[in-house]
Amino acid sequence: MNSLLQSLDPADLQLVLECGELAAARGFRAFLVGGAVRDLVLGLESPDIDVLVVGDAIAVAQDLARQHDGEVLRHHAFQTATVTLRDGRRIDFATARSETYSKPGILPEVTPGTLEQDLERRDFTINTMALALHPDGPGELFDPCEGQEDVRGAQVRFLHEQSFSDDPTRLLRALRFALRLGYRIESRTATGIRAAAQGEFLGDISGARLGREFGKLLSEQPVAGAAALQEWGLLEGVFPGLDVDSGRLTRLAELVESEAPDELRPWMTLALLAVHLAPQERWDLVRRLNLPREAQRIVVDSGEPWRLALEALNQLSVDAPPSAVADVLDVLSAEVLAVGVSGVKESSQRDAALRYLHEHRQLVPDLDGAAILELGCADGPAVGDVLRALRRARIDGDVTDPASERTLAERLVREAN
Ligand code: CTP
Repeated sequence: MNSLLQSLDPADLQLVLECGELAAARGFRAFLVGGAVRDLVLGLESPDIDVLVVGDAIAVAQDLARQHDGEVLRHHAFQTATVTLRDGRRIDFATARSETYSKPGILPEVTPGTLEQDLERRDFTINTMALALHPDGPGELFDPCEGQEDVRGAQVRFLHEQSFSDDPTRLLRALRFALRLGYRIESRTATGIRAAAQGEFLGDISGARLGREFGKLLSEQPVAGAAALQEWGLLEGVFPGLDVDSGRLTRLAELVESEAPDELRPWMTLALLAVHLAPQERWDLVRRLNLPREAQRIVVDSGEPWRLALEALNQLSVDAPPSAVADVLDVLSAEVLAVGVSGVKESSQRDAALRYLHEHRQLVPDLDGAAILELGCADGPAVGDVLRALRRARIDGDVTDPASERTLAERLVREAN
């Protein structure tokens, strides 16, 4: 067996060979394809297992699921299936196909095809290698587009001149792979990207596909990805008016390093790219990219709501207590604050906002609503008033332990009743 296949994790190797056997039992041939093979050739670990079946992929997926008591999700329209095993491992199955594109950006017409046809419809040479899984020769490498050559030359190369008009999401994928692997973009491919940028190809893709690839690029490469989009003239194609300020992006990247949840990071970067957009344009942007609700909130709130908050901070007197800063900033999410702060130069407002973000935002009183009622507070808005006053006292350092907080709570309840 070819040593490439043997460098797979042993449990994954066993699994993919089983896929090969199940396919062969039905008279089909199966191959490991896509990112998994690229990563094996590169000596990297790959999280994906993509199995291509020349035959009926859904049937093979069902056989595998049955053997392992796993779950299978079928997509008959695409002749693909995903099997999830009980240990959480996922295997994606696809039926080998041949594609014809009638119009840029529109999904292609698909017919069953050979291994070679399936590989030749793909994006870049490094993604067009396949490893045989059938029992009579497992591990044989198929590399019809010379992907290994381009791995050696460290370059991202498309397969033909129509590649980007066939599927404009490949424009973003080219930048993502080049940045991820530290590869250069081969010269004809580069010319293709520049031509596509002029041709506004990105306008032809659905919002969901554009948003997904854009999010992948920015989550892998928040700073370099945005800069590359600008440099290759693609940013305006994603949405007019987006602009890169790399100083701000670097500051944001530092700020979110440890704090923001992974899935929100790309949208924080997008909010920075949208810095010059008016409120209505921000809504148009989130609609165009079909962003999830959380992402919409970050992009929209980093505009007018952040501007109003900053204005309110500027109006606070120099000796305003930290709780006054909290009163202004509590309405915004931590992600919006990080985006906003990364755009503010060294100043007392920046210091105050950062202090709030890192020290005060998470502070809550020890006592809860039930405890305030137990202290004799009348049920109603007074409970909330007391809790807010306790939080302010915590933020301002007026109470630092449960005993002093309780004493303050008792006094506030007496005053409220
Ligand atoms: N592919 C393609 N054109 C696209 C998307 C995908 O040709 N627009 C092909 C490529 O062969 C790719 C495979 O489908 O390798 C799987 O796609 P995907 O999972 O998106 O990418 P990976 O190459 O696996 O990359 P990653 O490591 O980012 O998952």
